[in-house]
Amino acid sequence: MKIVIATNNKNKFQEIRELLPDSIELVTLSDIGCLEDIPETADTLEGNAAQKTAFVLDNYAYDCFADDTGLEVDALNGAPGVYSARYAGEKVTYDDNVNKMLKEMKGKEDRCAQFRTVISLKIDGMEYFFEGSCEGEITEEKHGEGGFGYDPIFKPKGYDITFSEMSLDEKGKISHRGLAVAKLVEFLEEYSEAM
Ligand code: IMP
Repeated sequence: MKIVIATNNKNKFQEIRELLPDSIELVTLSDIGCLEDIPETADTLEGNAAQKTAFVLDNYAYDCFADDTGLEVDALNGAPGVYSARYAGEKVTYDDNVNKMLKEMKGKEDRCAQFRTVISLKIDGMEYFFEGSCEGEITEEKHGEGGFGYDPIFKPKGYDITFSEMSLDEKGKISHRGLAVAKLVEFLEEYSEAM
């Protein structure tokens, strides 16, 4: 089975490729000639994920899936959530967002947070959603070099290390994206058997 993944994010692509069985061939946006930035202007994760898959389907006519992820911090009333990529402003780096988060969280006792991923899959004229979440806490400083985004300051529940200090494999087993992709894979396997 061949399917397009509607993302230009290399880290996400790498994580998702690791989680998919070899029987699923992942096709990138550049493979289908889509080199533009896909708009993400919805105010929910579901809306953004669906917007990305609609863009690929409408403009390139491919079945595809896309994920949208947000970090929801309790002490910040769920922020930055769907705005996680632009937390410190437009055109910022991962490090800018991490630094802003550490500043906002300085001195806060409640450091509970969760990552939430929603995947939209558009296939044969239908749309399906899959969700995964991972609870944890925001650390007081950065730890580790691996991963991307807020990984250096997110310590999943039950662990003493951040996502940045884990291997891709270890993160994939417990992460928001890993859990959502596992549901997608289960669906695609049953779907292709039924065809
Ligand atoms: P997106 O809109 O799904 O690309 O994700 C929004 C932002 O959330 C990204 O720019 C990253 O900063 C952050 N993010 C998404 N997934 C992860 C993750 O697995 N770990 C850490 N940060 C992430």
